[in-house]
Amino acid sequence: MRLPNMLDAAQRKAKANYIYEHRINQKIFGGKKYYIRTYGCQMNVHDTEEIKGLLESLGFNESENINISDLIILNTCAIRENAHDKVFGFLGRLKHLKKNNPNLIIGLCGCMAQEESVVTYIKEKHSYIDIVFGTHNICELPKMLEEYTGKQKINVDSKEGNVIEFDNLYKRDSNITAWVNIMYGCDKFCTYCIVPYTRGKQRSRKLKDILKEVIELKNAGYKEITLLGQNVNAYGKDLEEKIEFSTLLEKVSKIGIERIRFVTSHPWDFTDEMIDVISKYDNIMPYIHLPVQSGSNKILKLMNRKYTNEEYLTLFYKIKNKIKNVSITTDIIVGFPGELEEDFEETLNLVKKCQFDGAFTFIFSARENTPASKMKDSLSLEEKNNRLQKLNKLINNYSKESNLKTLGTIQKVLVTSISERDNNKVAGYTENMKLVNIDAPASSIGKIIDVEIIDAKSFSLDGIMKI
Ligand code: 5AD
Ligand code: SF4
Repeated sequence: MRLPNMLDAAQRKAKANYIYEHRINQKIFGGKKYYIRTYGCQMNVHDTEEIKGLLESLGFNESENINISDLIILNTCAIRENAHDKVFGFLGRLKHLKKNNPNLIIGLCGCMAQEESVVTYIKEKHSYIDIVFGTHNICELPKMLEEYTGKQKINVDSKEGNVIEFDNLYKRDSNITAWVNIMYGCDKFCTYCIVPYTRGKQRSRKLKDILKEVIELKNAGYKEITLLGQNVNAYGKDLEEKIEFSTLLEKVSKIGIERIRFVTSHPWDFTDEMIDVISKYDNIMPYIHLPVQSGSNKILKLMNRKYTNEEYLTLFYKIKNKIKNVSITTDIIVGFPGELEEDFEETLNLVKKCQFDGAFTFIFSARENTPASKMKDSLSLEEKNNRLQKLNKLINNYSKESNLKTLGTIQKVLVTSISERDNNKVAGYTENMKLVNIDAPASSIGKIIDVEIIDAKSFSLDGIMKI
């Protein structure tokens, strides 16, 4: 697996010009329809917004129906193996569709498209996939489409294209909340993780470009932004300009947008300055996703997480003590190679100490060429599943307890949509990121309202609007 090469400034400029030219030349694909399906993390969701923006700048219109689309793109994830099965299952349907509609263009992009074995497999066995582009080649999509001649085209080599500033060429899913990339890639090289290989080394955006985007979002009426990166607290470490995440956060806060969030934080880079800034500014939301991955020092070392159980707990309590009303969620992997029952018990003990507000839990999945994929993994899948279930039971109890604490309180909720559970209600998030289904009119969508919490479940709250 290759690591990214730096593109020189001239190449970047040429690419940026290319996009610009196509943006003003709207009609090349006028009247054509595209459908895009997204798998995986928020980074992919936001990449899809960029792809949609590019396609619409070329004249494409979005469609929700694969049967009438001229272009179908799958934006894929590679973080765990089962992601492959889902994608290739859907590709099977598309292959069939293409038999009836030979002009259909099928595209594959995202992290999976950066995996060498997948690219080889596509070349050898999936000739009906027309274009393949990597996470770093999104800006080359217009060129690939324009030059497409019916012959499979694969472009996953250049790895730095995403650093180009698109002048906000996104078709955003919401006009209330927005993602703002602050960096791409990751340098942490946790031994189980494929991200540093698929998304490349860490590259931070320049402070001025981030602030410009946030100001534009505020002026456009957005109420909430989420600063996005694989490891946001390492922001700036790769820049010439001396800047840290805490400074960026403070500057973003001063722009005055109503709510600011950020994901994801690595415990290793979480500084006291960050804690101070979060507690000082009311518009920085008291919610931190702080993946721990394991409670066993032996496993943390094998994972190359760079902190111990004790160091994680020290940070955890510091955050809890200093940031009012903060909620903390985490990620945990069970069944990492070498995880003995006693290691798993240490994870359970850590969860008992932290009583997380929520957690995403995963069974270890060996990913191509990562160091952990070469470690001896002798635990049966059945035992891994047993551990996962035991862990989930504990986690869900704490999520429910955390939610029960809000019963009877008044919470400030940013209403973002009609409730998925009940069309007569609306839904939104509290400051500390709890989902609430609310008895309130649809006209409250886009507003921050006071909500009295009347019921609490493991994964959501119910409330009524206070007038
Ligand atoms: N197997 C299982 N879980 C993984 N994650 C990342 N890589 C793997 C893997 N190979 C989990 C980690 C990470 C989250 C986004 O996905 O917990 O924090
Ligand atoms: Fe993967 Fe670790 Fe980087 Fe997160 S910090 S993206 S788990 S390598």
